Amino acid sequence: MLILGIESTCDETGVAIVENGIKVIKSELASSAGIQAKFGGIVPEVAARQQLRDIIPALKTVLGGNNPRKIDAIAVSSGPGLIGSLLVGVETAKALSFVWNKPLVGVNHLSAHLYSNWIEKQATPQFPLLGLVISGGHTDLVYMKGHDDFKILGSTLDDAAGEAFDKVARFLGLPYPGGPQIENMASKYTRAKHVNPFPKSMAKKDSFDFSFSGIKTAVVRFVEKNKILSDKSGIPQVCYFFEEAVIESIANKITSALDQYMVKSLAVGGGVAANVKLRRKIASVAKSRNVKVFFPNKGLSVDNGAMIAAAAFFAGKPSDPLTIQAESGAYFS
Ligand code: KG4
Ligand code: ZN
Repeated sequence: MLILGIESTCDETGVAIVENGIKVIKSELASSAGIQAKFGGIVPEVAARQQLRDIIPALKTVLGGNNPRKIDAIAVSSGPGLIGSLLVGVETAKALSFVWNKPLVGVNHLSAHLYSNWIEKQATPQFPLLGLVISGGHTDLVYMKGHDDFKILGSTLDDAAGEAFDKVARFLGLPYPGGPQIENMASKYTRAKHVNPFPKSMAKKDSFDFSFSGIKTAVVRFVEKNKILSDKSGIPQVCYFFEEAVIESIANKITSALDQYMVKSLAVGGGVAANVKLRRKIASVAKSRNVKVFFPNKGLSVDNGAMIAAAAFFAGKPSDPLTIQAESGAYFS
């Protein structure tokens, strides 16, 4: 089964054709991150306008050489996300579904991040599983007994993990998106013998909710107190300890969840899952609990069209193309 997946929830425009939820036939990703970099974050209107420019060329690239008649269904990320951005993808998908007379599947962007772990893998996650979505807008821990059977164990109480990376980067004068910038800066700090001055997490120990704003505030105080911004040489150290504090707090939650829930797999998705040290730490936690861990292949941690097609294949239900709505405030579903 060939599914055309369309993703436009935030600043990316992703289009991909995926066969049986696992094999990418063709994929294209356009991003306005370069344009947003000068604003230090995403300006929704700028993102949506760029997506309007990007979506048709991306579709043309993906469809070039692939007969639309062979596509069995269209899948689109219908939420959560920025409303202007979502509308670009949703309305394009509706129009294609109507003109081609193909079924349309609305996909939840958050669960789609977990479905990146089914794409182009030798082995795929097994149920029951723990799913961790760590992106720019969300941090969710879910327990899934099957494709259609999940329970949200915890979410962030304040900033999302990626949002904390982005805000700290912006404060330090690093461009958007902050995650890769902080990861890169942190790798330049080699004298890691100091004690980490930042708290691991402010969220309650007995809950699976996350909290990152305490770490962020501690970074701001530390930077101001030590005048890090006037002599930039301290920035790699701040990035190192900030990254470590975020990773430790995520790893602690995963450890408690794995102790409480008997699962076969741990699937991680979302932009922050691209972080190499985070992968290493989570992999060691999973190994210590005898659980197989899955991370998306290269390029599939961040937003992309292929994960939307994969989610539709494994867990999607066709919707009436003319009634499907962009839902900016949708929760994990
Ligand atoms: O999943 P995603 O592409 O978009 C959302 O759905 O939000 O995630 C983007 C987020 C940004 O906050 C970005 O800074 C973060 O993922 N990110 C990273 C890394 N690469 C991207 N965070 C930490 N380390 C990275 N290597
Ligand atoms: Zn995302």
